[in-house]
Amino acid sequence: MADMITAPSLKKMRDAGKKIVCLTAYDYPSALIADAAGVDLVLVGDSLGTTIQGHETTLPVDLEDVCYHTSIVRRGIKRALLVADLPFGSYNVSVEQAVESSILLMKAGASAVKLESDYTEAISAITKAGIPVMGHLGYTPQSFYRFGGAKIQGKGDSGSALIEIAKELESAGAFGIVLELIPADLAKRITNAISIPTIGIGAGIECSGEIQVWHDILGISETPFRHTKFFMNGRDLMSQAVQQYVDSVRQGSFPGPENSV
Ligand code: KIV
Repeated sequence: MADMITAPSLKKMRDAGKKIVCLTAYDYPSALIADAAGVDLVLVGDSLGTTIQGHETTLPVDLEDVCYHTSIVRRGIKRALLVADLPFGSYNVSVEQAVESSILLMKAGASAVKLESDYTEAISAITKAGIPVMGHLGYTPQSFYRFGGAKIQGKGDSGSALIEIAKELESAGAFGIVLELIPADLAKRITNAISIPTIGIGAGIECSGEIQVWHDILGISETPFRHTKFFMNGRDLMSQAVQQYVDSVRQGSFPGPENSV
């Protein structure tokens, strides 16, 4: 527990100018790998709707889904801060609903929760319940239909509004804010305007840290977005391996004597 990352330790990293490395994970083996690699914050994102469940958006993801994935990711984490997403519909109805949903995520194994957009009252109430909360501004995937797709946010005048909202989230008690798909110069202005960490994804280099989706950095996703980088071609490598397995069984070269008991 000594080296365990907490919400306050992320603030210390930010203040010391040490980049905060964040990554999503949805299962036990990926959690083990991320934690061993030194990822500081592991997010059980509602991106599991698109990466794991095969949906077009994150909207169909239920609180039970995030609780389940949080509970299995928890078993693979020793050091990183484990943050769980409040999915669409689990906090939008009332402040009470937001607190109740957050409590369920914490009971499932999370050490903090994240919600999208400017739900400042919910952030205050969740924080009051002793639960660290992260905000998420810019392109917020749960508003896919309002934005008309995964579109860059904060261009022009709306950038100043985002800075004000970021300040409100900080005042409400958020311990950090994810900034998604906003111009790099705006991300820099937000980062300089608040004293909590900003975690970018498609938001340039000036944030306090970076977050990426597991399937994107490992090249498992179908589409390589501009804001991601395939650090390996996971989809190709896995396809080749499975094809070799299929061919080997069909040809009778696997299992061989060395695989027999
Ligand atoms: O759900 C998710 O994976 C996220 C990250 C993209 C920040 O919210």
